[in-house]
Order: sequence, then structure tokens, then C-alpha cells
Amino acid sequence: QRPGHVSVVIVGGTGDLAKKYLWQGFFQLYVSQVSSGNTFSFYGGGLSPADKATPLLFEILKAVSCSKDVSQERCALLKDQFLRLSQYRQLKTLEDYQDLAEHIEKQLQQEGMTEAGRLFYLSVPAFAYADIADKINNSCRPASGAWLRVVLEKPFGHDFRSAQVLASQLGSSLKDEEMYRIDHYLGKQVVAKILPFRIENKRFLDPIWNKQHIERVEIVLKETLDVKGRIPFYDQYGVIRDVLQNHLTEVMTLLTMRLPVNLSSSEEVLQNKLHIFSSLLPLGKNQAVIGQYQSYKSEVQQELNKTKDHVSLTPTFAAVLAHIDEAQYEDVPILLISGKMLDERVGYARILFKNDIFCLQNHNSIHCKPKQIVFYFGHGSLQYPAILVSKNLFKPVLTDSEWKEVTEHTDVSVLGLSLSDYYVQTPTEQREAYTELISHIFAGRKNSFISTENLLASWGLWTPLLSTLSSSFPRIYPGGADNGDLLDVCLKGKDISFNSEVVIISPDQMGS
Ligand code: BG6
Repeated sequence: QRPGHVSVVIVGGTGDLAKKYLWQGFFQLYVSQVSSGNTFSFYGGGLSPADKATPLLFEILKAVSCSKDVSQERCALLKDQFLRLSQYRQLKTLEDYQDLAEHIEKQLQQEGMTEAGRLFYLSVPAFAYADIADKINNSCRPASGAWLRVVLEKPFGHDFRSAQVLASQLGSSLKDEEMYRIDHYLGKQVVAKILPFRIENKRFLDPIWNKQHIERVEIVLKETLDVKGRIPFYDQYGVIRDVLQNHLTEVMTLLTMRLPVNLSSSEEVLQNKLHIFSSLLPLGKNQAVIGQYQSYKSEVQQELNKTKDHVSLTPTFAAVLAHIDEAQYEDVPILLISGKMLDERVGYARILFKNDIFCLQNHNSIHCKPKQIVFYFGHGSLQYPAILVSKNLFKPVLTDSEWKEVTEHTDVSVLGLSLSDYYVQTPTEQREAYTELISHIFAGRKNSFISTENLLASWGLWTPLLSTLSSSFPRIYPGGADNGDLLDVCLKGKDISFNSEVVIISPDQMGS
């Protein structure tokens, strides 16, 4: 893309997400581009009038920080420049958007700058997307030659139908290539490394990446927090829509899709992903366990002003067993598990390989350590993101200079192995998922975002299960450290069959 002036507009620029991640991400982008020939203006937009919101925006902007390698003086200078390039705009009516566009154009003219593009980050509730996209389309398109990118956050619908309606509303204002739907898991360094890792280690993986060798695949996000304060949103969505339909499904496709010949071809990556969606067997009720933490019921009653007999069926825990109908993966169980208020905070995807016959017969032999590859997203016993490969599998190659091998081992144990039993690789510098994705938006790297086809394919997989489960009572679990049995049911045992585990609990048994 040609260098020039870039206008960045965060609609919802003083909201929580912007405050926590987005401004920091855009500051990092600015720092990385200082000597690139690109110039920037940053706008925080919102419904409040400028006199009220401007001080708040600048409080947020002042809190951005530099990476460790930048000296204090340089950091102060960069922050000062960043603040001077930033301003708040009220963005409520079509006229507000027209004023913004005029302002951008005047600035371009006055300073004789070529425009590279306009980036709108919609950090607002999804119901506002169609209207804002329409206003952008009507008044804020750049002149030809410059790009327009509009970034959207989930939820992208509630089921297949609503996702389709939203996609077609957006489609009437924006071209598919202008939409950047965020799934922040695709910005996690370890998730972004799944395909490159599979390609770099193809010669070791090809012979074992199949049903003869894989015992099962687990994709897990366990959280310890509850959803207090988020109930109005959460109670309509639940864990399957909040985490499984997007984050865990994306990881599943990256682990199982055919490897693209050209990793930077978004079309090829998309087609290979869509192929996996079309090979996934439908998810039946017997392939799911749903749960709800005990105190959820009273949180719902409080936050939604409901009476004491109100019962919510929204799951806060789900374990789902998927299968891919392809010779390579026939009968390989793929488990997707996530829940709130569990015993630990940890996220990972692991491929657990079958042990040899000797090991199957002599379970406890010291020679029979698990053979696994773990894509560890972070948290839990290992505080940093990493890719771990059991030493009894193969030594992975490391061609990426942004990753290093970890050689000093503590006695931490990760999923049944002590760290010294693994080859461990970790990023040389840890970066927030949002910072990573913001740099990908700027570079126009569409692979890291969810296309309409990808989104609808995923809802196509999950919607039938969601409607089947909509009248099922989730199992009530205590919350906190006592959830061993729920997870054991889902994670342990060789013959994973959930048939007996979909327990229908009658309303009077709930939350007692
Ligand atoms: C979000 C969900 O998309 O992902 C949250 O809405 C969840 O409910 C979060 O807690 C998990 O992300 P991370 O990066 O903290 O693992």
C-alpha cells in the first residue's frame, strides 16, 4: 500500500475496550511507523459532547506506555506527539460524520498530504454497527486510491440467521474487503503461530498428524472469574456463543485445516478453513455437556431485576465433542471446553498422541510419558505463551527470529509433563493480542480477521446445537476449586462418550 496520511477513528473512543487495549495498540502502531513515511491523525469519537469527553480521552491517552527498549526521553517525546495528533469528536448524527470528513479533507489539503487510508474502529454495541457503517459509507469514504477499513467487534449475531442479517446490512454499506471482524484470539501470538509452526515442522508432523497417531485434540479455555456486571449481555449469549463459536472454533480450524501453499494468501487460507467447516459432522445434543455455576442464578435475578423463582438456562460452562468427517481425522475426538468460575485460569490447545502398544498395556511405566504438542495461550502454571513439544516426539525447528527456545526449566508441570520433558518455544517479546491485530489491520492482512463466509460457516455449525440445547437445563456446578468432577468427566478417560453425561436437571433441583 502507498504511504501517506492515515486517519484513525475509534468510535467508542472513551469506552472500556478503547481504554484497556485500543489506544495502547494504536500508540504502538504510531511508534512503529514514525519513520515509515506515513503520517497519522487519531480521533476518539463518541456520543457525548466534546467539552465533556475531551478531558476523559486525554486521561486515557496519557496512560499509554512504550516498550522496554525505548528510552524515557524518547518515550516522553513520542507520547507528546501522539497526544498532539489526537482529538475527540462527537459522532452522533450524519452531520457529525460529514464534519469529520470535511475536517480530514481540509487537513490533507492544508498540509499537502496524500491520503493512504481511513480506519474506523467501531468499539460500540453491535446494534449500532449498521447505522454507523451507513454514515461512514455516506460521508466518510476517502477519495479513490486510498483505503477504507472498518473494524468490528463480536458479537456478530446471535445465531446463523441474525449473523446473516447483520452481514447483509453491513454489506449494503461496506465491501467485504473493507470489513475487519476481530476475533482477538487470532491476535494471540501462539494462535497466530499455529499455521507457521505446522508448516515449519511439516516433515515431522505429516506422518503423525492423523487418526493413526492422534488420540484426541483438546481446545480449552478455563476461567476463574464470574460474569457479574456483564449479565445483561451474558445471559443472552452464554459460553457457547461467547467463546466456543468464535475463539475455540477458530483454533480448531487452524489445527485441522489443510496447510496453505501460500500462507499470505487470504483466499487460500479461507478456502482451506471453509473446507474444514464443511467436513465437520453436525453437533448433536449427545456431544455436549452444559453447566452453570451455582451463584449465576442469583446474579441474574439481581442484575436483571427478576423474582426469586426466575430460572436462567444460560450455560456458563460447555464441553463439546466435535468430529471431522475426513479419512485423516476419522473418529479423532476434538474437545472444545470453556467455562467461568472454574478451578484455574488457563487456555491451551493440545494434540495428545497415542502411546505405543507397550505403553497402552503398561500405563504406569516411567517410559510412558504423554506425547503431546501444546499451544499454550498463557496464564495457568506457565505464565507466558508458548508452544511445547514432548521430547519423546521430535525437536521442533525454529526459523522465526521473533521466537526463542526456552532452556532454563523450573519444576513447573504442564498438562501431565514437567517443563523439562518438553522442547519449549516462546515469543521473544510478548505482545497484547489487540496490539498485534491493530498492526495487521494497518498492513491489510485479512487472514487475521473473520470473513463473512467464515462467520456464517461457524454459525452454521453451532446454531443447530444451540437451538437443541435452548431448553436443556445446565448442570449446576459449585464454582471455584470444586469443579474437578465436571472437568474430569469431560477431559479424562479414553473412550469419550458424552451420552450419559447430558444430565437434564429439573428446575426444582437447580441452584439449591
Ligand atoms: C472474550 C469473552 O471474547 O474472551 C470473555 O467475551 C472471555 O467472556 C474472554 O473472558 C477471554 O479472553 P482472554 O484473552 O482473556 O483469554
